[in-house]
Amino acid sequence: MKGSLWRRAFLVKLTHAPNARLLTGSISGRNLKILDVGCGTGCISLELSRMGHDVLGLDLNERMIEIATRTKKTKDSGSGKLQYEMADFDKWSGTAGAYDAVIFSRVLHDLPDPENALLKAHRLLKSRGRILCLEYAYNMMDKKTATWLYQIRKPLELQDWYSSPHLPDDPGKGVDLIMHEAVTGRKQHINTFEEMIRPLKRLFHQETFSWHPYHFWDVLSDMRIPNPRIEERLATMIKKLEEFLLGKGEIQPALFLYKGTKARRLPR
Ligand SMILES: C[S@@+](CC[C@H](N)C(=O)[O-])C[C@H]1O[C@@H](n2cnc3c(N)ncnc32)[C@H](O)[C@@H]1O
Repeated sequence: MKGSLWRRAFLVKLTHAPNARLLTGSISGRNLKILDVGCGTGCISLELSRMGHDVLGLDLNERMIEIATRTKKTKDSGSGKLQYEMADFDKWSGTAGAYDAVIFSRVLHDLPDPENALLKAHRLLKSRGRILCLEYAYNMMDKKTATWLYQIRKPLELQDWYSSPHLPDDPGKGVDLIMHEAVTGRKQHINTFEEMIRPLKRLFHQETFSWHPYHFWDVLSDMRIPNPRIEERLATMIKKLEEFLLGKGEIQPALFLYKGTKARRLPR
């Protein structure tokens, strides 16, 4: 928990909790069979099972499955079945037509072949089954967005309120570094928005699409203000600022929610 957003309850309220609500609020119906791909520590799977759905959470990281299994014990009685499995989704073969919904929350960007992963999800879904995808679009970062982030992060670093200070004092170089880190510097390859949205639209009928604030997650993850009251107020303000600037079209978004229904026939 120490280095993560789970270190403080108010940070979870600003980040993981609204993300989980975006997904749980997009699921209608009762007692559904849901597959949560890349479930991590299982917070979304757990909430869905508390709503009465039968959930299978998959993750390739043993530690994540361990934590998810431990938190499963906090599950309310009367809720749906909740199972976890350690597996690489790319190699995993589930039963075709078994699920009412398949969720990719912050994992599709990481899968080497998003089209193939979505084809597999299509196969796993029942007819009229739903795909829910909450994903990053970091490649949409532009200079204006990076400049805003520099203006937030650099003063925190100078105040010694940032766990990994490394932005140069020169704003031009700092902005370039933020852009580089967002677009190419995260990992060898993270899928672009286009690489994910194209197969989503090809394989599923779009029901809803929306953008959500997310850049603030990165700032809050590294922010370290000794006084929790000040940290909470600043964290809330940074999130609100991102929402405000996104609403005005002043900066680029980094997180999208796609909800779609399985297309009956796969397009050629
Ligand atoms: C950023 S976390 C997201 C966790 C959770 N879905 C959420 O939104 O809070 C991404 C998770 O996907 C898992 N993951 C990455 N590639 C995977 C794969 N090929 N198969 C299964 N899980 C994978 C990682 O181990 C990690 O726990």
